Amino acid sequence: MNRIEQLEELRREARLGGGQDRIDAQHAKGKLTARERIDLLLDPGSFEEIGMLVKHRSHLFGLDQQQFLGDGVVTGYGTVNGRLVYVFAQDFTVLGGSLAEAHAEKIVRIMDLALENGAPVVGLNDSGGARIQEGVVSLGGYADIFYRNTLASGVIPQLSAIMGPCAGGAVYSPALTDFIGMVEGNSYMFVTGPNVVKTVTHEEVSSEDLGGASAHAVKSGVTHFTYANGVELLQGFRKLLSYMPQNCEEQPPFAPYTPSDETRPKLDAIVPENPNQPYDIREVIEEVADADSFLEVHRDFAENMVVGFARLAGRAIGIVANQPAYLAGVLDIKSSQKAARFVRFCDCFNIPLLVFEDVPGFLPGTDQEWNAIITNGAKLLYSFSEATVPRITVITRKAYGGAYDVMNSKHIGADMNYAWPSAEIAVMGAKGAAEIIFKKEIAEAADPEAKLLEKEREYAEAFANPYGAAARGYVDDVILPRFTRTRLIKAFAMLENKAVKLPRKKHGNIPL
Ligand code: HXC
Repeated sequence: MNRIEQLEELRREARLGGGQDRIDAQHAKGKLTARERIDLLLDPGSFEEIGMLVKHRSHLFGLDQQQFLGDGVVTGYGTVNGRLVYVFAQDFTVLGGSLAEAHAEKIVRIMDLALENGAPVVGLNDSGGARIQEGVVSLGGYADIFYRNTLASGVIPQLSAIMGPCAGGAVYSPALTDFIGMVEGNSYMFVTGPNVVKTVTHEEVSSEDLGGASAHAVKSGVTHFTYANGVELLQGFRKLLSYMPQNCEEQPPFAPYTPSDETRPKLDAIVPENPNQPYDIREVIEEVADADSFLEVHRDFAENMVVGFARLAGRAIGIVANQPAYLAGVLDIKSSQKAARFVRFCDCFNIPLLVFEDVPGFLPGTDQEWNAIITNGAKLLYSFSEATVPRITVITRKAYGGAYDVMNSKHIGADMNYAWPSAEIAVMGAKGAAEIIFKKEIAEAADPEAKLLEKEREYAEAFANPYGAAARGYVDDVILPRFTRTRLIKAFAMLENKAVKLPRKKHGNIPL
C-alpha cells in the first residue's frame, strides 16, 4: 500500500465510524448517522471536516482495543444557506457517542474557532454521556465545553439538536445554548434516568415520560422545538438560522422582498365585539407578518404566550404576543419565563421586537405566588427594560394592570406603542374596579346589582378605550387594524439605526 492508498484507507475507515453493523443498527432505530445528519444540515458539498484522524489515548478497561478514528464525534464547518456554520455531530456507532478527552477536545476546537470567527455553532447530540472508562477526563471535557458555551452566549448563536440519548451532566451544554430541538420518540434528556429516579423517589417512569420530546416541549419547556424525525429537525434548524445574524456585531439578514399593497382588511374583523370572547393571536401575526414567515418557538409550552421569529418586509423580527385563546392570555410564571428568554435572545442578536398585547393581568393564586410569580414576572420586566433593539407594541385589546407596564410599554423603553380602537388600557377590568371603588355605594343601593352595572359602565366608558393613554402620548397613535402592517414596516425602518447606551456596568443582576 503506498502513502496515497494508506490515506484513502484511513479516510474510508473514519467514515465507517463504529462499523457497518452499528450503522445498520442506528438505521434500524430510525436514526441517521452523524455524517448523514451533517450532510442534511449543511449546504450540499460544503462540509469541511476537522480532526477526522483524532484517536483517544486511553488504555484502561479494554479501550486500547477499541480505537476509532475521529473518537466518536464528527467536527468541522460548512455553510447553511451560504453562511458559515460550525458543527459537531456525535457518532453513536462509536462507543455510544460517549464523550471523553479527545472527543471533547474536538468539540472545544470547533467552539473556539466559532467564537474567534463569529459564526454559529450547531451541536448534534447523540451520546451515552461521559465515557465511563476514561474517568475524570470525561467530566473535565464536559466542563471545558460548558465554559465555552457560556463564553459564547450572546456572542454567536448556539443551537443544540438532541437526536438520541442525552443524560447526566451532558444535558447542561444544550441547556446553556440558545435553542434546543428534540426528535419525537428517539431522543431524551434528563439529569438522572428512570433507574435512579426509582431508587431515590420510588417513582416508576419511562425514559420517554421522564425526558422525551413531549415532556420537555409541554411540561418543562427545556426544548424549544420538537420534530417528527431527524430530517425534519435538520431542515427546521436551517430555517431557524435564517433569522439570525452570524454574531452579535452583525444585523440579521434581510430576505428578498417586493413591496406591494400592505393593507390587511382581515385584521379589522379579528378582535370580537365581546371583550371576553377569545380569538387566536396567531391570526393577527399571520396577517401582519410576511406570508409564511412566522416560525413559532416553544409552541407547546405556556401557550398563553406566543413567541417566534417572523419577517416584516423582509426584515427579521422577534414577536412576543399574549394569546387570548389560552387562559385569556394571562401572564403567569411559565409564560413570563418563556417570553423573557426569547426577548433576551433577540436583544443579544439585534433582532427587533414586535409585541402584540392583549392581557387581562397576572394570574392570581397561591400556586403562582408560592412559586414566585413576583420573581418570574420580574424576569420579563427586566428583559424588556434592558433590551436596546427597536421595540414596538401593538395593543389589540386588554392592557390591564402591571401587565400593561410589563408588556413592552413606552415607560420601560419601547420605541413606539400603537393601539387598536378595541384597546382597553386601565388598572383593572371595569367590573373589578367598580366593585372596589364603589363598594359602599353599591352596598347601600336599593338594587345593588343594577348599581354595580351602572358603575361598571361608567368605569368602562372612562377607561375601556385607548384614548386616555393616547392623550398622554403613552400610545403614539390609535390605528385601524388594517393599516398595522404598513405602520409597522415604516416604524421599524425609521428605527433601523437606533443606538442606545445602557449605564456602564459589569453585567446586570436579572432576578433569576
Ligand atoms: C462508554 C458507553 C457509554 C458510556 C454507552 N456506551 N454509553 N460506553 N461510556 N457512557 C456503549 C455501550 O457500552 C455499548 O457498547 C454502546 O455504547 C451502545 O450502547 P447500548 O447500551 O448498547 O445502546 P442502547 O441500548 O441504545 O442504550 C443507550 C444508552 C445506554 C441508554 C445511552 O448505553 C446507557 O445507559 N449508557 C450509559 C449512560 C450513562 O450512565 N452515562 C454516564 C452519564 S453520567 P458495546 O460495545 O457494548 O456495543 C455523565 C456525567 C457527565 O454523563 C457529567 C458532566 C458534568
